[in-house]
Amino acid sequence: MRIVLLGAPGSGKGTQAQKLISEYGIPQISTGDLLRAAVSSGSELGQKAKAAMDAGQLVSDEIVLGMIEERLQEDDAQKGFILDGFPRNLSQAASLDELLAKTEQPLQGALLIDVDYDVLMKRLTGRLSCKNCGAVFNRYTSPPKVENTCDKCGNELYHRADDNEETIGKRLKTYEDETSPLIGYFQDKGLLLSVQGVGDIDEITNAVKAELQKIA
Ligand code: AP5
Repeated sequence: MRIVLLGAPGSGKGTQAQKLISEYGIPQISTGDLLRAAVSSGSELGQKAKAAMDAGQLVSDEIVLGMIEERLQEDDAQKGFILDGFPRNLSQAASLDELLAKTEQPLQGALLIDVDYDVLMKRLTGRLSCKNCGAVFNRYTSPPKVENTCDKCGNELYHRADDNEETIGKRLKTYEDETSPLIGYFQDKGLLLSVQGVGDIDEITNAVKAELQKIA
């Protein structure tokens, strides 16, 4: 299965991707995670990306495309992948088409997780993430069993630097201006799938799986 998860910041792309990787045995490839790892490592690429991420803007296409091209060549991505947070604008979508055309493994679907903007601010200000295994929790809606400790691997949880009200507002604006046109783009290609992303997380996973059955 080769799919893209689409949706505003906080819509639940990472949460649902984590549920799908074990179900389908394919990796979640999150450009946000790859960029945060580059920032933490202090690499030149990370230093270039950091300013845009702190400002709630998109990192340059050149940086992101280089990272994605390399990641898609790894062994675990040969049997399929869940792209989370990529593509993020029309130019990245066209580049993805070109990349996949070379491998004769075209994209099969783009699944939109649809959530009203007023829900997103509270979700993101309450998010807690595990640096070790990528599990996602929420102070308000799905707290870990032990405070600040990952239920899955026992490591410490952290609050993302860009999950503050000012940067969230900018990320939502960037989504509206640059990423939301992808909904029409994938619809025109006959690839768009969609679920409502509000309510019980496991019920949303079931709705996601039902949509994905259409392309399995
Ligand atoms: P990225 O890491 O991709 O962040 P994002 O798109 O803003 O998405 P999030 O990770 O914030 O949200 P999510 O949809 O995964 O939600 P989650 O499941 O965690 O990007 C960060 C930055 O990197 C960008 O701003 C940009 O600078 C750069 N970047 C990344 N990709 C790029 C690209 N391709 N090009 C250029 N720049 C790029 O859920 C959120 C919270 O809600 C959690 O606490 C969760 O527990 C909770 N939650 C989830 N579902 C529910 C539910 N149903 N009910 C209640 N709570 C829920």
